[in-house]
Amino acid sequence: MNELYLSEAMVARAFWTELRSTTRANEAAREVDTIIFPHSEVVGKSFPTQTGSISRDSAELIWLMARYFQPKRIAEVGTFIGRSTLSLYHGAKPSLEFLATCDYSYDTWHAPAGDAKSKIRYFGKTASQAMFQALAAEGKKIDLFLLDGRISGEDLGLIEKLMTPNSVFIVDDFEGVEKGVANVFHLREKFKDLILLTPDSELKNGWNDSHCLALLLPTANIRVTRQQRLPLGLM
Ligand SMILES: C[S@@+](CC[C@H](N)C(=O)[O-])C[C@H]1O[C@@H](n2cnc3c(N)ncnc32)[C@H](O)[C@@H]1O
Repeated sequence: MNELYLSEAMVARAFWTELRSTTRANEAAREVDTIIFPHSEVVGKSFPTQTGSISRDSAELIWLMARYFQPKRIAEVGTFIGRSTLSLYHGAKPSLEFLATCDYSYDTWHAPAGDAKSKIRYFGKTASQAMFQALAAEGKKIDLFLLDGRISGEDLGLIEKLMTPNSVFIVDDFEGVEKGVANVFHLREKFKDLILLTPDSELKNGWNDSHCLALLLPTANIRVTRQQRLPLGLM
């Protein structure tokens, strides 16, 4: 008798399809259109650069993943104009204790007033190693990492201190020879148990634009269930 073998590609296809078709997708789209993009456009006007930000599709998917995984503690590398930061914040809102985010080039981002200001800890003009060191020194643990900057060997050692057996990683720019591919390579070299769900760019029909987000998660986080959908609509 053979066992049932599921490849990473099979799991990825199922995951992105389910995530996109959840009943929460409309809420994600609404918040991206009415809160996240308008705020980042105002912030973007004050930036002296054309460094790329994330697409609308990426923002919605980040929102949905943050809502789905319910992380309490998030660390992000690469704030720039903060679209991904706010997508994480709004998606994770019901579960979030804090979101730490850094950018080594800029110090001009600001969170919108209110709850976001107290929950988001911005490390402006700070490299990821310095932010990770600060969090590790405080004994913090991180449930979800979003990597939209380039990570080094030193980062990997610090991530090891900060992660839990269930930490998940969202990596942007997983495409061609972009930084996301290098980041995924380094993460998988270091943490052998992570499985990779590659972007579903072929399934983007009906969405506004494309994304190149990859998701890495430990095999220990995968459960076979009798539920018919991702348990996201219930939250
Ligand atoms: C593509 S932009 C990020 C876009 C941003 N996530 C958004 O949604 O607007 C990448 C940013 O990461 C920053 N960066 C790259 N590597 C970094 C690192 N190791 N530590 C801190 N910042 C980094 C760069 O300065 C740049 O502003």
